[in-house]
Amino acid sequence: MKIAIVGATGEVGRMMITCLSESNIELSELDLFASKHSAGTTLYHIDHPIKVQTLTESSMLKHYDYVFFSAGAGIARTFAPLAAQASEIVIDNSSGFRRENNIPLVVPDVNGDIIDGYSGIIANPNCSTIQIVIPLAVLDKLFTLRKIVVSTYQSVSGSGHQGIVALQNQRKGSTDKGIYPHIIDLNVIPQIGGFLDSGYSQEEEKMHFETRKILRNSNLLLSVTTVRVPVIYGHSASVYAEFENDVQIAYAENALMDASSIEYYPNTYVTPLDLGNSNESQVCRLRLGSDAKSLVFWNVGHNVRLGAAANAVGIFKLHAKFAGKL
Ligand SMILES: NC(=O)c1ccc[n+]([C@@H]2O[C@H](COP(=O)([O-])OP(=O)(O)OC[C@H]3O[C@@H](n4cnc5c(N)ncnc54)[C@H](OP(=O)(O)O)[C@@H]3O)[C@@H](O)[C@H]2O)c1
Repeated sequence: MKIAIVGATGEVGRMMITCLSESNIELSELDLFASKHSAGTTLYHIDHPIKVQTLTESSMLKHYDYVFFSAGAGIARTFAPLAAQASEIVIDNSSGFRRENNIPLVVPDVNGDIIDGYSGIIANPNCSTIQIVIPLAVLDKLFTLRKIVVSTYQSVSGSGHQGIVALQNQRKGSTDKGIYPHIIDLNVIPQIGGFLDSGYSQEEEKMHFETRKILRNSNLLLSVTTVRVPVIYGHSASVYAEFENDVQIAYAENALMDASSIEYYPNTYVTPLDLGNSNESQVCRLRLGSDAKSLVFWNVGHNVRLGAAANAVGIFKLHAKFAGKL
């Protein structure tokens, strides 16, 4: 299997290399690309050293089975279409293609069926969206979702490596806001991305759009508030879900317990610090909402793993299985 990663030196790119190593899939080639600033850096796939190359148009003309992009929307829009012509599949982590009708937006356990026989660009969803849609899809099958109200508590690594740098510097006393509109240390910031005319932020709007697209329900009612918190890794979400039908907590618990990609905790709760190397969406504090047709739960996921790299590698594994390559 020949693979390339664009943005290999970033938070997500490095985790992609880790997730590929953990998958034990034998790779005949793994080429790593980043900007010219990181060219020559050595990264390791298992114990094999690989030198990072500068991304160029000509580098994307080489044939790979799968090319992962994790370098932001601008780079993806410029280089991913080139890579998609030369290679079978491009899996992009940015928001560059998620809204395009003809581009699948995929969480393997929820709507992975849509990439059977597909070639071209596949979009990896927003990190917070991935972790909430996994349990919501399970509950939707049981009771039919009607409305979702979500508040997120998102870690600084969700902003890329510079988010971590800003928090760490402020922990040491710096008053430089870094990439954030306010000091993030010992604070919470109810803004992720710019604000739109609707009053929602870009991150909130991504979650509205992407949740509907992945759950294949354009009528789903949603209201999301996204908040940055001084946590290094792990996004949390408080999710209120309303259904067409009466809910039964016991049915919901059994289905969540049986679902792949979910770790369900009936008697305790999970915090971001508990995540370790988990690639699962963690669900706990499940309880009735405001009436017999609604549920509330607490949800935690590793944003760089489940919310990005592990989902992208999951898409790769599923597609390769469909294509008979695995
Ligand atoms: N972090 C998360 O939790 C998360 C979750 C879901 C999706 N995403 C998305 O994944 C993407 C990457 O995020 P990240 O958190 O990994 O960001 P990051 O830590 O800031 O890393 C960015 C990567 O992009 C590369 N890059 C920047 N400019 C480039 C250029 N001109 N040519 C080639 N490579 C270039 C950087 O290379 P250099 O080292 O050379 O600068 C680095 O490898 C973003 O689109 C982000 O929205 C992130």
